[in-house]
Amino acid sequence: MEPVVLFVHPDLGIGGAERLVVDAALALKSRGCRVTIWTAHYDPNHCFSETKDSGIPIQCCGDWLPRSLMGRCQALCAYLRMIFLTLYIVFLSGEQFDVVFCDQVSACIPFFKWTRNPKKVLFYCHFPDQLLTQRISLLKKIYRKPIDWLEEKTTGMADCILVNSHFTADVFKQTFASLSQVEPYVLYPSLNVSKFECDLSEDLNSILPLSRKHIFLSINRFERKKNLSLALEALCRLRDKLDLLEWDKVHMILAGGYDERVAENVEHYQELKDLASQFKISDHVTFLRSFSDEQKLNLLHNCICVVYTPSNEHFGIVPIEAMYMQCPVIAANSGGPLESVVSNVTGYLCEPSPKDFSNAMERFVKNPNLKITMGKSGHKRVMETFSFEAFSDQIYRHICKLTVSPLLS
Ligand SMILES: *[C@@H]1O[C@H](CO)[C@@H](O)[C@H](O)[C@H]1NC(C)=O
Ligand SMILES: *[C@@H]1O[C@H](CO)[C@@H](O)[C@H](O)[C@H]1NC(C)=O
Ligand SMILES: *[C@@H]1O[C@H](CO)[C@@H](O)[C@H](O)[C@H]1NC(C)=O
Repeated sequence: MEPVVLFVHPDLGIGGAERLVVDAALALKSRGCRVTIWTAHYDPNHCFSETKDSGIPIQCCGDWLPRSLMGRCQALCAYLRMIFLTLYIVFLSGEQFDVVFCDQVSACIPFFKWTRNPKKVLFYCHFPDQLLTQRISLLKKIYRKPIDWLEEKTTGMADCILVNSHFTADVFKQTFASLSQVEPYVLYPSLNVSKFECDLSEDLNSILPLSRKHIFLSINRFERKKNLSLALEALCRLRDKLDLLEWDKVHMILAGGYDERVAENVEHYQELKDLASQFKISDHVTFLRSFSDEQKLNLLHNCICVVYTPSNEHFGIVPIEAMYMQCPVIAANSGGPLESVVSNVTGYLCEPSPKDFSNAMERFVKNPNLKITMGKSGHKRVMETFSFEAFSDQIYRHICKLTVSPLLS
């Protein structure tokens, strides 16, 4: 009998965490497991298409509970919503299952463990929740204290803990000091490469001057923590290293998720534009505030390398997408890219300084072959380490380990 796996997730929208949950469900389904996804919020107009057409049942419950109390206490509300959902599943839904896969909110774990037939729980930690919020006021500190404590205690009750990178595993151990006996396993997110089969004939002449052959691409939301100014500073330094003719061929595209309702996106976009004009490189920089998946692939296909600026990124899917598209990556030498990019093979890992980034960028301008050789190595690396097959094998193995009876193992 293949295991029956229940997924429990707070909000099944469109984000990195949801991508992982949906991929994990599809992976287990493809191995014969019966899977169901339970969530507190699901909107068929704002979700990944696989939640509609893959035959995986989606069950929604408890969406009437508030998400915040007058804009505050979001964590507390998220906990209550998840606990309500869990109680419903355990006592009212009639669901029979072997393993629960949960992520983001660990507060539901004890309720699966305390039932008459305790269930095995697998918890996927994208990043410790308590590190994702700021504690400026004393009140906030007091409010978060019990929540942080609860996060640590309930996380420790899971039977198996997975994280998205060795970087996150280290952060996990530092953050949850009382869980030192727990060894989280790394399960890297994967890419659905069938989405990458698309028309790549679109050229960039409609948005760029004709002479620009050497295109550097950054893909990141317009947020300050992504350190996009580093890309502009590096481009400015690169100008000083090149002669006029070479510089005329160089261009940078800053493409990024942008939402007009998010103040930081709006402000930071303007700050970056101002910075570009302050450096007098505005006519070598194009900002793209929204783009389709197909456009993204065309951008990756046409650039000579991706410049990935954030430090301490938890995992970072962009370098994986770039390498799959045979595009080398220059990334800061911390966080997830340390595990995805192989320096000097699939790109360069650099100190997050304009000097180091521009040195690496110069290599691509001076030696166009580099894009081809490094691009091929990057593609190979993605196929070996980040493929959906590799991802499926691993998650299935973890589920089987949890369901095999202790007498047999
Ligand atoms: C990958 O994408 C294809 C096409 O969009 C879809 O049919 C398939 O279900 C996806 N698979 C996974 C594992 O996401
Ligand atoms: C961001 O980039 C600047 C250089 O532009 C660098 O000095 C700084 O350390 C970077 N920030 C982080 C968090 O790495
Ligand atoms: C980088 O790779 C090139 C070509 O394979 C090699 O000649 C060079 O020694 C390498 N540099 C470092 C620092 O590993």
